[in-house]
Amino acid sequence: MDNFTEHTITDAVLARMATVSDPRLRRVMQSLVAHLHAFVREVELTEEEWFAGIRFLTDTGQACDDLRQEFILLSDTLGVSILVDALNHRMPEGATETTLLGPFYREGAPEMKLGDSIAGTTPGEPTVFSGRVTDPAGRPLPGALIDVWQAAPNGLYDNQDPSHGPMNLRGRFRTDAEGRYWFRTVKPASYPVPTDGPVGRMLRALGRHPYRPGHVHFIVSADGHVPLTTHLFVKGDPYLDSDAVFAVKSSLVVDFARRDAAEEAAAHGVSSPFYAVAYDFGLKPA
Ligand code: BEZ
Ligand code: FE
Repeated sequence: MDNFTEHTITDAVLARMATVSDPRLRRVMQSLVAHLHAFVREVELTEEEWFAGIRFLTDTGQACDDLRQEFILLSDTLGVSILVDALNHRMPEGATETTLLGPFYREGAPEMKLGDSIAGTTPGEPTVFSGRVTDPAGRPLPGALIDVWQAAPNGLYDNQDPSHGPMNLRGRFRTDAEGRYWFRTVKPASYPVPTDGPVGRMLRALGRHPYRPGHVHFIVSADGHVPLTTHLFVKGDPYLDSDAVFAVKSSLVVDFARRDAAEEAAAHGVSSPFYAVAYDFGLKPA
């Protein structure tokens, strides 16, 4: 019979997985066990701390339902999600950088005409987005699909705030023959990630704020290209350097340029003053 000690237990667990036939599963699980044991040893985890950790993970699971995924929020706020994103999306020159999908994406946003507003009657500062979708060499991609969603200026998505109509602040647009797109919305504001669950408790215990800088989400796709999941962030937002989920990249921070001319506003179908955002998306060939 084996007599496991603090010095032999790690090798014993690793040995028991040595015959796992799927090599990837073996590698991932052996590495996970090795790092987990190293962590427990390094901090000399107490039994109280071990049980607090078990309780925290249990609460995290119990906070999940069809609309809420607290484990992904935990991964996001610990920087794991953005690390996985970075490892899996190394982009060539000329391709837009990716960032997190986030929990508020919904399939089936309404297909809209170029120039339409995704904001319905939501009060806010009128904003016009425009640009092109291209390949990394700058060649336009006609018929590319731009799936866009954002929170309202009160910081809530339609699925968090029953005062919104269904699918408010969500839309899908197709680029024209020159790969161009344009649509109207309202300027997004910074907002907190959900803090009424265990992840909120963790952030408070760590003295961390829960805010994300104002942003608009995009999934851009075109035939023969890798779908791009990203955000565009509002330049000047006070949380750009301390995003609660570490998802900001400087290449995704864009100027919301204030425009005051009434004729220009009228030409875009918005009131004056409004904000103009110009951004070209570059897609990586598949
Ligand atoms: C979001 O931007 O929608 C988001 C991303 C990660 C965690 C929470 C919210
Ligand atoms: Fe968001």
